[in-house]
Amino acid sequence: NLQTQNSILNKFIAEIRDVSVQHDKMRFRRNIERIGEIIGYELSKELHYKEEAITTPLGTTNVNLPQQDIVICSILRAGLPLHNGLLNYFDDAENTFISAYRHHITETEFEVKVEYLASPSLEGKTLILADPMLATGSSFVNVLNALKAMGTPKKIHLVSVIGAQPGIDYVNEHFPDSSKLWIATVDDQLNEKGYIVPGLGDAGDLCFG
Ligand code: PRP
Repeated sequence: NLQTQNSILNKFIAEIRDVSVQHDKMRFRRNIERIGEIIGYELSKELHYKEEAITTPLGTTNVNLPQQDIVICSILRAGLPLHNGLLNYFDDAENTFISAYRHHITETEFEVKVEYLASPSLEGKTLILADPMLATGSSFVNVLNALKAMGTPKKIHLVSVIGAQPGIDYVNEHFPDSSKLWIATVDDQLNEKGYIVPGLGDAGDLCFG
């Protein structure tokens, strides 16, 4: 949970939650993207590095460079701006797109459906799975199951912007121990419809209407 320290991240989180700012869809999307950049930077500290020689116009120097094969997977729709933010930093990553949406059976009951998947092999790679909202955790868990057909990643980084503690607990129970969740801010509760409270509303609608 990155909001436990004071940083400029707090301003971006405040703006995406604030009803008086949310009408500005470009700012909303850009803030999600900026949060993706910040989380990308933080998680980059846990990649594996190897020293490599770099030739400059005036000589050579050694730099520790990340070595992983990274695949960024975003969950449509709301995952797209977060995906862009991560891709701004991991610019040579491979990319996976997957859909997951809540199919409402009644007003309060829903199941999560996965209908679209475009992905390279994930075997032995570092998978970054991005969805800005972690409410019940069903989307992350259903997506993990759907991705099993693409091979077993060596490491999974889950990236989210806002989550509810019950959903985080559910995700922790269902993901392998080699996974790590990076999240900008955490609320305590879900309401009876499975929405994060106080949360920010529906990130997909706020991004794309
Ligand atoms: C929202 C959100 C997450 C999911 C989180 O998606 O963007 O994908 O719900 O909820 P969960 O943790 O309970 O699964 P939604 O179904 O509204 O689709 P959208 O991204 O297209 O708006």
